[in-house]
Amino acid sequence: MLTLALSKGRIYDEAIALLGRIGIEPTVDPDKSRKLILPSNREGLQFLVIRASDVPTYVEYGAADLGVAGKDVLAEYDTKGLYEPLDLGIACCRLMTAGRQGLAFEPGSRVRVATKYVKTAHRYFASKGIQAEIIKLYGSMELAPLVGLADCIVDVVDTGKTLKANGLEPLDLIMEVSSRLILNKAAMKMKHAEVKAFIDEIRHALELKP
Ligand code: ATP
Ligand code: PRP
Repeated sequence: MLTLALSKGRIYDEAIALLGRIGIEPTVDPDKSRKLILPSNREGLQFLVIRASDVPTYVEYGAADLGVAGKDVLAEYDTKGLYEPLDLGIACCRLMTAGRQGLAFEPGSRVRVATKYVKTAHRYFASKGIQAEIIKLYGSMELAPLVGLADCIVDVVDTGKTLKANGLEPLDLIMEVSSRLILNKAAMKMKHAEVKAFIDEIRHALELKP
């Protein structure tokens, strides 16, 4: 049995669309069921539906053999216990700094940053020689500069509509983000043939037109 961990929402939707190209689909709709383990029409394959930021943890501990996680999430996680065999090119966005129009960071200056990407933000501002005080939030980061909690935020941006609706602008690009297939290292050894065949199938799905 192979277990693939996905997060509900855009990653689930886009990953299932990708697997659909090679005829794999869950037999339970997570929007109509409270089940967190979803069987599939492929014998020997099931899905786990969990929080996006929990996917690397499930895969590292072997509770799932494989998972799909955004590069933004992986950058926050110590990924030494994981393989990352494929870029799936789904859930694409950019991790950026954002703030009010005209905000500029001078080397040597101090800045207060609200984000859920604490490690990445620390690394980024340190690389620019800017002293950053990082305030950890779990969502709605765009609010922080509006109410004086922070000077700027680090968050993912796609269309830019969320920033615009809150009077903020994208500033600097930290990284391009897409979702990756991740793999438990022990599963690669213990279930080698199964895992390799599945990865090859996904690689094939990526080559097929949607
Ligand atoms: P959690 O539930 O753990 O807090 P989340 O709410 O960030 O996670 P999603 O919003 O489903 O979960 O995002 C999952 C992944 O999709 C992110 O890690 C990122 O890689 C990507 N992503 C997030 N927002 C967007 C967006 N607006 N457009 C495209 N991709 C996005
Ligand atoms: C994400 C992210 C931004 C928004 C950016 O939130 O946290 O708020 O997308 O996308 P945009 O540039 O196209 O506006 P999401 O919509 O996933 O809601 P969430 O806060 O529940 O993750």
